[in-house]
Amino acid sequence: MPDPLLDRRREFLKDTIRLETDFSQTDQNRGVPPPPLEKPYAADARRLGLPPAGRWEGIEMIDLATAVGDRQSRRSFNPEPLTLDELSFLLWATQGVREQDSGTVLRTVPSAGNRHALETYLAVQRVNGVEPGFYRYLPLEHQLLHLFHEEQMPRKLTEATLGQAFVGHAAVVFVWTVIPYRMEWRYGLAAHKVIALDAGHVCQNLYLACEAIGAGTCAVAAYHQQLMDRLVRVDGQEELVIYLAPVGKIQMS
Ligand SMILES: Cc1cc2nc3c(=O)[nH]c(=O)nc-3n(C[C@H](O)[C@H](O)[C@H](O)COP(=O)(O)O)c2cc1C
Repeated sequence: MPDPLLDRRREFLKDTIRLETDFSQTDQNRGVPPPPLEKPYAADARRLGLPPAGRWEGIEMIDLATAVGDRQSRRSFNPEPLTLDELSFLLWATQGVREQDSGTVLRTVPSAGNRHALETYLAVQRVNGVEPGFYRYLPLEHQLLHLFHEEQMPRKLTEATLGQAFVGHAAVVFVWTVIPYRMEWRYGLAAHKVIALDAGHVCQNLYLACEAIGAGTCAVAAYHQQLMDRLVRVDGQEELVIYLAPVGKIQMS
């Protein structure tokens, strides 16, 4: 039996919007300057350097085929903390910069039109050398931006994910927001499906990178939108939470 509501929702999955969009009217084609590649921050904000890409210490990685073959959603984490080198590796694998020249920045994950509309927030609970609290990853600098301290993080993370307690037990929770305008600037009404596709690539890299270092993660798309937006202190309109993934060390078999 046809269901008009479902039919309407299914339209989101199609690329028909591309044929219906007047690309001459996008901000890019109207000559509006592009939005920043990374969300700006105050010049005097507290930032933490991360071990540089490719020079991680104390990480024994398994090979790619083993990581792919073993990948699974892990919802049980050890109390053991992550090291800063491990966190640096996970951030690099999910949003890191792999090539940069004056005009272009390319990352370790693909993105439609290379627009990279996602930002990575971290709820840090157990990472050696990093005070618990909320941070934002700065891919261009490969640094962490300290945002704020939050009381009762496990409870708030669990509540904001509709009672999924394993999220509150993670060593660190990756929370991805999107700044839709970064994609809309180029694609207008055709921006939103590709934003969701982009988020999938980022999370898959996190799965594989976790497997490679004896950590585990689980994609989480079931969450309370307003509570989560409030938790990372974004406005829910110009920037909003789209996906998250708790990470922790796991029992090695
Ligand atoms: C888009 C997406 C959303 C998901 N959301 C949740 C979630 O909110 N909570 C959860 O426990 N697992 C979630 N998962 C994990 C799936 O349940 C899991 O991938 C699936 O059961 C298959 O298991 P596997 O990942 O171990 O192969 C999600 C996975 C994806 C890809």
